[in-house]
Amino acid sequence: MRIRDPPGAPVTRGVGRQQTYSAAVGVSSDQAPAYGSPQAAIAQNSLWYHSIEVAPGVVTPGVFDLRPIIARLPWPDVRGRRCLDVGTYDGFLAFELERRGAAEVMATDIADHEQWDWPLHLRARGPEYLRHVAGMKRGVGFEIARRLLNSTATLDEVSVYDLDPARVGSFDVVVCGSLLLHLRDPLRALAAIRSVCGGWFLSTNQVELGLSVRHRRRALVRLDGVSDLAQWWLPNAAGHRQMLQAAGFEIERESRIYSVPFGVAHLAHGRSPRGLAPLLARVATGGVGVPHHAVLARPGTA
Ligand SMILES: C[S@@+](CC[C@H](N)C(=O)[O-])C[C@H]1O[C@@H](n2cnc3c(N)ncnc32)[C@H](O)[C@@H]1O
Repeated sequence: MRIRDPPGAPVTRGVGRQQTYSAAVGVSSDQAPAYGSPQAAIAQNSLWYHSIEVAPGVVTPGVFDLRPIIARLPWPDVRGRRCLDVGTYDGFLAFELERRGAAEVMATDIADHEQWDWPLHLRARGPEYLRHVAGMKRGVGFEIARRLLNSTATLDEVSVYDLDPARVGSFDVVVCGSLLLHLRDPLRALAAIRSVCGGWFLSTNQVELGLSVRHRRRALVRLDGVSDLAQWWLPNAAGHRQMLQAAGFEIERESRIYSVPFGVAHLAHGRSPRGLAPLLARVATGGVGVPHHAVLARPGTA
């Protein structure tokens, strides 16, 4: 069976509705396929964003591979906690929360490409182009991985901007990975995250490496919004910290700058760019990939 968006399968539409595996693949629960093997299940998803080990030695062919850097994040103790992963994609961070002993994990994402904060010139290229860039719909990879991992994490379709304690409750730990740079209004998103965060907030974000190294204390942000990368605000590490502070969080700990490695599905996978700049980047971040920074924060009293 090919996973696709069948006509009249609105189960996954609408903000805040929990998405089941069957809804993600567009079949009713009694029709849900029994996969012969993890490899057969993985093949049901045409695009994997995350490299996830779903069975011993079996890894989804992701665009990015967070496995080598996951221990470098400033994790809080999540054991026994209610946790939220915002903008989960295939769920790598949600499953990591579970692996670390979270009592309950909710993951959230938008329903489809239409809800991205597209820069105007990209949206003007039309839905076909947006689908090509952002993929068909969210949740398919998450549900396949969830089943293979026997995970009890749930996936809700709710934009970060719409997070609200009346809708989703409050969480001991909230994680948000590599999303702020894609948002036109990251501070509004952070305010919404703060409204549902009762304990710790772990934020990871792409950062400008040069600005981070040259200006360690000065908060700077580069504005994009015009390139084809669907990115808006790219801070340096100090800027990432200050965005959280501006949204009412107090910083507890932070990581050094690290590179998120490319997965096998990334065009740059396996390439080792030569030259002084890539060499310096590798030294500064400890690897090849996209420069990131992680901050652990708590909601302040103000
Ligand atoms: C770059 S991926 C990061 C995936 C994952 N969090 C990680 O750290 O690897 C960004 C994710 O945020 C989701 N996203 C985009 N806009 C969103 C919004 N307004 N609310 C919630 N999620 C959003 C995308 O669908 C995608 O799954």
